[in-house]
Amino acid sequence: MLRYTLSALFALLPATQVLAQKGGQPLASARYKTPADLPYQVEPDAAARGSQYGYNICNSTTENQQSLCQTMYVNSIADFCLWAPDKPNSLIADTEGEEVAWCTRKGHGTRLIPDGTLQGVQFLTAPDYTLIVGYMDQTKVNLQSGDEGGELDPHGQDLRGNPMGGMVYSTVFSGSNTTVQVPEWNLFIGGDFFCLKICKNDKPGGFCNNIYDTKGCGFNSPSNSQKGVYESCYSDNMQLPGADPNPVPASSKCTQYASTDLYGMPTATTAPASTTTSSAHTSATSASLTASAGVAAKTGSPNGARAFGVSLLVGVAGIVLSIVFLA
Ligand SMILES: *[C@@H]1O[C@H](CO)[C@@H](O)[C@H](O)[C@H]1NC(C)=O
Ligand SMILES: *[C@@H]1O[C@H](CO)[C@@H](O)[C@H](O)[C@H]1NC(C)=O
Repeated sequence: MLRYTLSALFALLPATQVLAQKGGQPLASARYKTPADLPYQVEPDAAARGSQYGYNICNSTTENQQSLCQTMYVNSIADFCLWAPDKPNSLIADTEGEEVAWCTRKGHGTRLIPDGTLQGVQFLTAPDYTLIVGYMDQTKVNLQSGDEGGELDPHGQDLRGNPMGGMVYSTVFSGSNTTVQVPEWNLFIGGDFFCLKICKNDKPGGFCNNIYDTKGCGFNSPSNSQKGVYESCYSDNMQLPGADPNPVPASSKCTQYASTDLYGMPTATTAPASTTTSSAHTSATSASLTASAGVAAKTGSPNGARAFGVSLLVGVAGIVLSIVFLA
């Protein structure tokens, strides 16, 4: 009887919706060469996880601190973006499908990373990838204080990406300073630390391998970044992720900067009224977290494991539901 009812319901769905139930498009195979080629949403289908949280066409009207732009850029130490939550006090594990773009500069139609968020950034240009690693006060980009975070990449449980529909562009691989899509990338964010890697013509098992998602920055993207230092360097390629320990590759020709030469951003995103009283508390909290921050990000994160477990459960539940529904 149940099956009969479901089949009757199923027959009522238009053909396009039936296709959508099977799951949108694999994000890593989606090709939109330049931002001008992007549709409003790369993942509009209401498949198992629902449709995309934000959108991919971003412009001056979407450039504000409530922006749900999900198109991001990695161009230089002065011009890059991160994926982080829409709402304050969020856990990456709860919001991985929904992160939005936060950028260091205007012009991308996104949120801006607030002043004081970045506390040391190293931009490493390697032959086959570009890696940007940094210390941060993650509460300023809506992560809960103490969240060990997790990994984001264009694959995920249903191949629609985390964030779902999140697109990455860069000038660094085009050879001509033009902005082109980067299909393979990963970002570990949490523990007041991040490492964002974009890969050139990456292959399965390459530098942007996304299977070690619980292991953190030290394992996947080793670096010698230091708190309080802002520098752009050339780097050898690292050993492929999987080597344990994975030595920090040699870097050279570093150019150092003062953070004020690179970033000049709004100081508050929300609740400006409480800024003065809460800032002392916030800095104390972030100072006390610093010791564990690098360690957590470098050695791997328990919540990353939890995020993975949750994803797996959600994924399995989604598959079971689809099977029941389609049966
Ligand atoms: C600006 O972006 C919004 C949101 O994606 C879109 O609806 C609007 O059409 C865009 N405007 C222009 C002029 O492209
Ligand atoms: C690339 O283009 C941007 C803006 O179009 C410019 O600011 C930058 O200096 C250029 N970089 C190089 C290496 O030519």
